[in-house]
Amino acid sequence: MRTVDVIQKKRDGQELTSEEISFLIEGYTAGTIPDYQMSAWAMAVFFQGMTARETAELTLAMARSGDQIDLSAIPGIKVDKHSTGGVGDTTTLVLAPLVAAAGVPVAKMSGRGLGHTGGTIDKLEAIPGFSVELTEDQFTKQVTGQGVAVIGQTGNLTPADKKLYGLRDVTATVNSIPLIASSIMSKKIAAGADAIVLDVKTGNGAFMKTLEDSIKLAQAMVDIGTEVGRECVAVITDMDQPLGVAVGNGLEVQLAVETLQGKGPKDLEEVCLTLGSYMLVLGRKAATVEEARTKLQELIANGSGLAKFKEFVAAQGGDSSVLDDPSRIVQVKEIIPVHAEQDGYVASITAEEIGVAAMMLGAGRETKESQIDLAVGLRLHKKSGDAVRKGDKLADMYVNRTEEEAVAPVRRKVIEAFRIVSEPVTPEPLIYAIVT
Ligand code: URA
Repeated sequence: MRTVDVIQKKRDGQELTSEEISFLIEGYTAGTIPDYQMSAWAMAVFFQGMTARETAELTLAMARSGDQIDLSAIPGIKVDKHSTGGVGDTTTLVLAPLVAAAGVPVAKMSGRGLGHTGGTIDKLEAIPGFSVELTEDQFTKQVTGQGVAVIGQTGNLTPADKKLYGLRDVTATVNSIPLIASSIMSKKIAAGADAIVLDVKTGNGAFMKTLEDSIKLAQAMVDIGTEVGRECVAVITDMDQPLGVAVGNGLEVQLAVETLQGKGPKDLEEVCLTLGSYMLVLGRKAATVEEARTKLQELIANGSGLAKFKEFVAAQGGDSSVLDDPSRIVQVKEIIPVHAEQDGYVASITAEEIGVAAMMLGAGRETKESQIDLAVGLRLHKKSGDAVRKGDKLADMYVNRTEEEAVAPVRRKVIEAFRIVSEPVTPEPLIYAIVT
């Protein structure tokens, strides 16, 4: 088989066979197919698309390119959850223990944050002592015993995707639905999930800015799941403003605790209950989403979700007493308020700008090597739809670099992220659609 023939076939809009797709992915992973040929192929896919069958074959070929985690020793249906990336998205910290408390085993691999989006692994590391590195044996034992474990991605998970993603990033081929869908799903499948609940964000802070594109991406991922025998549900959720009120690693742990105490912000709680309900249904711990929701609400009200969070943290070496007083992990030199400069109503809060503002404070990485400050970040005091008066507090900045040169640009960014209009506004819906 010649690579050039496969590129030409895709360029001309024909469907590739599974052998052709495996040939490309294996050759690219092994280094026998060079970047320039893979770039040409990715561009051909960008313009010609892929059928559902081709997308599923591509997903499986990438999942096979490196380690594949075998979770079959853990009893029960292992349901994973994935978010397409957002700002203030603390859902995993709430859902992993909550869903485990309902009896669904959670064996999760998560990533670190880069740029304006946060990563669950960094957030967990804000808890002193928490280790994200477990051996496969420790991981399996913990999920079997405690019902939940969250670790960082192993070095050799889907190397084909790692290489291809890097290439897409510099060849303007990231924004292709079959390429995004196969990239995400290959990692979930290699990580061993039996069933997957996807949180596909839509809006200004999301990969997909329009609802139409978000639904197309969600459908492509659900179709891959169906093709490869992993049950999958996608929930389309709003990212026209950050989710919840905290952006920053320790601050998000604190908010997750508040949410598990039933005192969290309504939007974060609602997204958690919706995603969690589908996780329980796919994990066969509830017959309907209504029954699942009631169960999750009970587990919050009776403290079982929070108790499971403490058990999970302790099992991974973390100081679980922090969860009794999370203010301990957000101790900073100064908390500086950001005030509104005009009267009106909050129409939207650009999630990306808020993410960048938190990153400028040191909460996120500009490059993979950046050191992050786990205590700093932002706590929002206004959300879309709220009325504001000039001088009201829009947010608090938790800072360790207190010099005005460091603080002033962040303050400006936060103010600019808030779009304030003169007429009352109805906030965007939080949950747009469920794709099955
Ligand atoms: N996230 C991924 O993992 N892959 C993509 O292609 C886009 C977002």
